[in-house]
Amino acid sequence: MTKPTLGSLEVFDDIASISRQACDDLIPLCCDAIAARGVCRIALAGGSTPKLLYRLMAENQQAFDWAKIELFWGDERNVLPEDDDSNFRMVREAMLDHVPIPEANVFRVPIDPADPAATALQYEATLKAQFGGDSLQWDLVLLGMGDDAHTASLFPQTTAIDSSDRLFVENWVEKFDTFRQTLTAPAINSARNVWFLIGGAGKREALQHVWGDRQAPAEFPSQLIRPSAGKLRWMIAIDAMPETA
Ligand code: 6PG
Repeated sequence: MTKPTLGSLEVFDDIASISRQACDDLIPLCCDAIAARGVCRIALAGGSTPKLLYRLMAENQQAFDWAKIELFWGDERNVLPEDDDSNFRMVREAMLDHVPIPEANVFRVPIDPADPAATALQYEATLKAQFGGDSLQWDLVLLGMGDDAHTASLFPQTTAIDSSDRLFVENWVEKFDTFRQTLTAPAINSARNVWFLIGGAGKREALQHVWGDRQAPAEFPSQLIRPSAGKLRWMIAIDAMPETA
């Protein structure tokens, strides 16, 4: 069976069951973080896979102490918050519009489509200010993965992959002919918990490579995710599990 070389693996029937389990586990995770540090800091994933999880968090909003939860974005598209492609908009419609989270606890990436470099520097400064330094000890980073093995907006053969002295950067993605904004691998790997939520047959081959013996993060950027002291969790729908499973 092809398994991850790092982290725990749980296989689910589908994205719906992943989302329910993730929502159930988020409740104690947030409670424990707030009890220990007075705040729970989460970096949200974009794309389509986590949308149901965000909806479930809204449906179970009474279980969360929203006044002590801070939400950030692990990556964002180079578009304004009202744009269809905006990860912020996706989360707003799925969750933020329905829960009593203080606006001051929602840290949107302040996209200026004309100046991606300035956008990244501004968000990086916000992260450092909120965390009180360069070590972003997230309570949780949620990640998806593309069928090209990218995660967050760390795409194959892009400059952000090699970034080791930054926390958040603009990243030119040739195949989309646009910039993305993304946490760097070091900024993700300082998390206490990192959960990959992955589903869809189109991701099988990518997972085969990511979990394979050949380490080539420039080709398979999800291989960069190796929490230094935190826990890595793969929550995988059966249709995304590699053939040789
Ligand atoms: C984004 C994401 C990205 C996403 C993958 C998977 O902004 O698109 O953050 O990393 O997680 O592309 O996307 P799906 O969940 O839509 O398959």
